[in-house]
Amino acid sequence: MEKFIISGGNKLKGDILISGAKNAAVAIIPAAILADSPCILENVPNINDVTVDLQILSEMGAEVKVLNKNTIQIDAKHIRDTAVPYEMARSIRASYYFLGTLLTKFNHAKVSMPGGCALGDRPIDQHLKCFKALGSNYSIEHGMVEITADKLIGTQIYFDKITVGATINAMLAAVKVDGLTILENAAKEPHIVDLANFLNSMGADIMGAGTDVIKIRGVKKLKGTHYTIIPDQIEAGTYMVAAAATGGDVTIRNVIPKHLEPISSKLSKMGVIIEERDDSVRIVGKDEPYERMNLKTMPHPGFPTDMQPQFAALLTLAGGTSIITESIYEDRFRYVDELRRMGADISVDGKVAVIEGVEKLTGAPVKAADLRAGAALIIAGLSAKGSTEIEDIYHIERGYENMAGKLRAVGADIVKRKFPGPDAIRMAL
Ligand code: EPZ
Repeated sequence: MEKFIISGGNKLKGDILISGAKNAAVAIIPAAILADSPCILENVPNINDVTVDLQILSEMGAEVKVLNKNTIQIDAKHIRDTAVPYEMARSIRASYYFLGTLLTKFNHAKVSMPGGCALGDRPIDQHLKCFKALGSNYSIEHGMVEITADKLIGTQIYFDKITVGATINAMLAAVKVDGLTILENAAKEPHIVDLANFLNSMGADIMGAGTDVIKIRGVKKLKGTHYTIIPDQIEAGTYMVAAAATGGDVTIRNVIPKHLEPISSKLSKMGVIIEERDDSVRIVGKDEPYERMNLKTMPHPGFPTDMQPQFAALLTLAGGTSIITESIYEDRFRYVDELRRMGADISVDGKVAVIEGVEKLTGAPVKAADLRAGAALIIAGLSAKGSTEIEDIYHIERGYENMAGKLRAVGADIVKRKFPGPDAIRMAL
């Protein structure tokens, strides 16, 4: 079992380079199988979710070449299999993008129900609604979703709720469908625009991505392309909060400032100094407590739910009472118990967390419940007095490339250590 060990109190100072966006990469990699010649993807984040995605492609017969740490070549012409290996597919959320791509490529797809972070109920009814509206049938048996279609037809689809995944899956399923498909009440996250740009660079005809109406005119062929994935705005936001929490002075490089607006505006309001440049932001924190803040998570361009735990960690030390409302997920406060172990004063009632700022946090042994909860614990550990041990760090490594290395480079005292797991201890008894 591996843990992060953090000795808190160091101010972060220096530069951090942001990797490619996880939530764009896990949509673009499956989409690459729609090209009838090889695709080269640059700025691919070196994270476990991407590794699983590439393993799925290889298992299905695609040729995957790692040209360097962050550049991948995918040639899908030999893919024959329309079923995704069960265990791999259920280990990540984004495996469900193979439903849309395989349906487009073969008129058939068989993928396990998705896995991913445990954030409460995460149905896929809107995905299935899209596939059915386009003319396919589906069944869910033995944990597998199977979709078949004789012929897909362009149509109008209104999402009952704003969903990133279903918006992406609808684009993937409609991109080669005869006629016009219109998606209404679509999600507008930066990674949706990135996927649309990727597909259009292959020859697709998608307009309106980034707005709530996306129009997709089906095309006959999609050719291979050479594409660079956008920087990860959530990774950038995480390090912005870490810099603020330690009262540091950090320049975050390789960002698109516009994608960070919902995050930067909240940090500025709390009293963090933010200097924006073309492709970087400088964060200057302070030692005295930040302003308290109320946050409500919303679909983009609102405040992102994927930054909610990280801000909670920062607000535990703010001056006064802060309120966080989580409007996207049923249960995204599983990190609260762990922050309480470090001295945080937080009470949770349903989708609302009330945070009373405290003087300091103290290091403690804690567990990462999911990807962003783990990031919140790292932020808390960096600002706490004493040592923090974080368990279950595989959650964190699903979505952050070399997080400990990037933090050490700006002065954090954080190391990854191997410990005997419960089995090894039992064996030794
Ligand atoms: C994507 O998840 C991201 N994951 C999540 O990031 C992110 O939190 C989320 O979008 C919202 O921005 C990836 O891109 C791999 P949704 P996704 O469909 O697509 C409900 C991270 O930390 N819903 O936008 O699963 C759903 O239950 C991860 O990087 C339905 O009801 O999110 C949720 O309450 C965590 N029916 C809400 O909509 C559906 O068919 C938003 O889900 C689909 C979703």
